[in-house]
Amino acid sequence: MHVSLNMAMSLDGKIATAQRGPVKLGSGYDFQRMGEIRAEHQAVINGAATFRAYPKLLHVQDQALLQRRQALGWSPQPISAIASSRLELPKGTPWEKAVDSERWAFCGAKAPRARINALEKAGVKVVRSRQPRPGAKEILRAFERAGITKVLLEGGGEFNASFLELGLVDKIYLTVVPILIGGKDSPTWCEGKGFKAFPRFRLRSQRELEGELYLEYEKTLAPLGQKP
Ligand SMILES: NC(=O)c1ccc[n+]([C@@H]2O[C@H](COP(=O)([O-])OP(=O)(O)OC[C@H]3O[C@@H](n4cnc5c(N)ncnc54)[C@H](OP(=O)(O)O)[C@@H]3O)[C@@H](O)[C@H]2O)c1
Repeated sequence: MHVSLNMAMSLDGKIATAQRGPVKLGSGYDFQRMGEIRAEHQAVINGAATFRAYPKLLHVQDQALLQRRQALGWSPQPISAIASSRLELPKGTPWEKAVDSERWAFCGAKAPRARINALEKAGVKVVRSRQPRPGAKEILRAFERAGITKVLLEGGGEFNASFLELGLVDKIYLTVVPILIGGKDSPTWCEGKGFKAFPRFRLRSQRELEGELYLEYEKTLAPLGQKP
């Protein structure tokens, strides 16, 4: 299993305002790059708050990228997945209605049966946890059982942190956008409880385009203070 994460953040490290609504951060190139990164993965997944802000399919638009996926023997589009304990999500969204696209929903033990049934009827594969909230490891195990070994996390900060805290993220794509969002309650791309031993990542590439910085990091084996 290989897990990547792709996020855009402001200069002050924020990904949205405190209200958690949709915010356009990156440029047209950042959007294009998001498609390129998605195209390299078999499944793309969001946490519930991100889905509430952007209830969309996590699709690839570019035809050349779609053809490259098919050459690999992959489905034209990556699976669009979400994780939500009780499936308290907007109803009737393009994601829910997209019958020709593979969609997965990970939920907790207390997700209402009626909501699960409605999603299944709409063609969504629902994976229900025995825990109140679907955990990062069980999400990856479910993908792996279906032969999916390249998964992309697209936020938000709380969902990302649940994977980072378990050392499950191999690669981080980060766009630094030269704006300030501010606000102590505005989320960063890694929320959660914080780390005791600080996970360490190695810079693999950096690129500047129109004032935005495109960074790519990969996991090293040892946390800060230990030899990698
Ligand atoms: N700039 C960017 O690149 C970017 C990208 C994505 C999102 N965003 C922004 O980020 C904001 C949302 O971020 P956020 O940190 O507030 O929320 P989030 O990470 O999107 O969602 C967190 C929610 O996901 C559900 N969840 C299910 N399984 C989980 C698990 N294993 N670990 C953690 N959460 C799990 C929980 O909701 P339930 O209780 O319902 O299960 C949890 O409250 C939005 O404003 C969005 O616009 C920005």
